Amino acid sequence: MDRYAVIGNPVSHSRSPAIHAAFARETGQRLTYEALLAPPDGFVDAVKRFRSEGGRGLNVTVPFKLDAFAFADTHTPRALAAGAVNTLAFGPDGVLGDNTDGVGLVRDLTQNLGCALHGRRVLLLGAGGAARGAMLPLLDEHPTSLTLANRSIDKADALAARFPAHAPAVALDACGFAALAGRRFDVVINATAASLANDAPPLPAGIYAPQSLAYDMMYRRGDTPYLAAARRDGAARVVDGLGMLVEQAAESFLLWRGVRPTTAPVLAELRRQIGG
Ligand code: ATR
Repeated sequence: MDRYAVIGNPVSHSRSPAIHAAFARETGQRLTYEALLAPPDGFVDAVKRFRSEGGRGLNVTVPFKLDAFAFADTHTPRALAAGAVNTLAFGPDGVLGDNTDGVGLVRDLTQNLGCALHGRRVLLLGAGGAARGAMLPLLDEHPTSLTLANRSIDKADALAARFPAHAPAVALDACGFAALAGRRFDVVINATAASLANDAPPLPAGIYAPQSLAYDMMYRRGDTPYLAAARRDGAARVVDGLGMLVEQAAESFLLWRGVRPTTAPVLAELRRQIGG
């Protein structure tokens, strides 16, 4: 059977093995998918061993996404734009590095949630790896505008400066949180790590347009601090990142197997397990 795995540290909490096992059942693909713990300085050795034992591909999670980028021989455009790799595919011509996080976000928004981005005002919070991974797929949807806001303004400026000509019709700008006062957005995406510290970005009141959607890339039982704040401040819908998790997995599965799994049942089951 073809072997796949998610590699990370820590990795025992990962839901990817269950997600890919469900995809394999549903599509009738014969494969195994396990969780692979690598020591912090042992990524390359672990990947080489897995490949030499017949491994066909890996998902890559914290803290190895930059190591995976360096390890890949070739990269998809979205991996190059993200500067990080969450999916490796081992083929006869070498190692392909892809990044399915951003497209997973966009598919969750547009397909699962029915939230079109085209013609909308989009606000992306954060300027780290998670935000960078989302840039190209978001721009490809041709929102009216894409605003990057971050605690450190220079990092938001630098991220915006990476995408000067990709979508000339999209108004791209960067600022700090305070400068958002008086502006309105249709879709607000939290890509900061604030939720990890049980915190929310300090946003000015009144940024949510009527019918707006607030999205947190993180997920947990109940609202994240960001989603709770967005609800209080008038966001019409608040959604966590569980769908993004399932959709990025589906994109990896598609890359490896050439088959797109149906994600709705897997997402529903995960939601049931997490509760809320
Ligand atoms: P990731 O790869 O998950 O994006 P990262 O590269 O460490 O992680 O980036 C973390 C992001 O979360 C940054 O945008 C960071 O803001 P700074 O660039 O100003 O550090 C943001 N962040 C982390 N904690 C935050 C908090 N409590 N409030 C607001 N932003 C926060």
